[in-house]
Amino acid sequence: MKNVLTQIEQLTRSSIQALETSLSLEMLEAVRIEFLGRKGKIANLMPLLADLSLEDKRVVGPLMNELKAKVEELFEAKKQSFADVLLAKKEESFKDFDVTAYTKRPLEGSLHPYTHVHTIITDFFRSIGFQVADGPEAETEFYNFEALNIPANHPARDMQDTFWLNIPSMVMRTHTSNVQIHSMQKYNPPIALISIGRVYRNEATDASHDCMFQQFEGMFIDKNVSLANVIATMKLFLQTFLDDKNLKLRVRPGFFPFVEPGIEIDASCPFCTDGCSTCKHSRWIEMVGAGLIHPNVLKAGGINPEEFSGFAFGFGLTRLVMLKYGISDIRLLHSSSVEFLKQF
Ligand code: PHE
Repeated sequence: MKNVLTQIEQLTRSSIQALETSLSLEMLEAVRIEFLGRKGKIANLMPLLADLSLEDKRVVGPLMNELKAKVEELFEAKKQSFADVLLAKKEESFKDFDVTAYTKRPLEGSLHPYTHVHTIITDFFRSIGFQVADGPEAETEFYNFEALNIPANHPARDMQDTFWLNIPSMVMRTHTSNVQIHSMQKYNPPIALISIGRVYRNEATDASHDCMFQQFEGMFIDKNVSLANVIATMKLFLQTFLDDKNLKLRVRPGFFPFVEPGIEIDASCPFCTDGCSTCKHSRWIEMVGAGLIHPNVLKAGGINPEEFSGFAFGFGLTRLVMLKYGISDIRLLHSSSVEFLKQF
């Protein structure tokens, strides 16, 4: 009996000490298993009861229960204290959380200069009754050259260095003028449309040339269309696009096999009054090739040149974008560099 009482006393002391010196939930759990587990130290005391007299049992039994209850209670208390500390820590870290605080903003996207200019152009031409058409970039020789009055072996083919595909008679289109023929075949006059897209030329790349660039083409077919119509349309467009109401045009003769007569239109420099590097100190900037659609081209598109006439014009859209945004190197515009693009 004395032996059992000593053991209970020892166990009481050692369990309290073990609980109090636990530094973490893991340590605490180990202590629980050691003392309160099914095969733990307290459970192991129970068999000792069997050897005791009934009288002694009445004394020792409750003491054992008391020990167990006490260890359980201490264990729960200690566990709770760990939870409290954890919560306090969490609260502490949230205390300084200011939802109104200013933080670095995430990188914001912006429209590519091309996209921006596409929108300005399509908005303008839609407002004067033009529709927007599209055409293939991989094109047959017929639509890119022949139908546009540029037969095989004609020297005009050398004006545009061509990427020929491995498929016979197929090219990467050298201009957006292929859309003229597709559209004539698709619609009946009056036709008023523009088309914007990529074109390809087998040229060496430098600050102002790339093997891919963009053009923007327009076409109007109706009865009695005259050169004055295309000049007036170009004037209104350029004044709007370059945001200069006083912009003046200068018209020179120009040669393109698919128009007759053909003209080239220059605009007065919108960036200076007495010469700058953009206009190469000439006060004029070359803008657009245009003219009245050649009868052969109308015929190729299935339109009777005796009944209808039309104008066509073609811009180097890439040049327009570079002019509008003051971009001096085409390679930057085509680089996809975020550093460069985020300026716009
Ligand atoms: N297609 C011509 C070019 O690429 C531009 C142009 C289009 C000229 C329409 C006149 C009329 O140079």
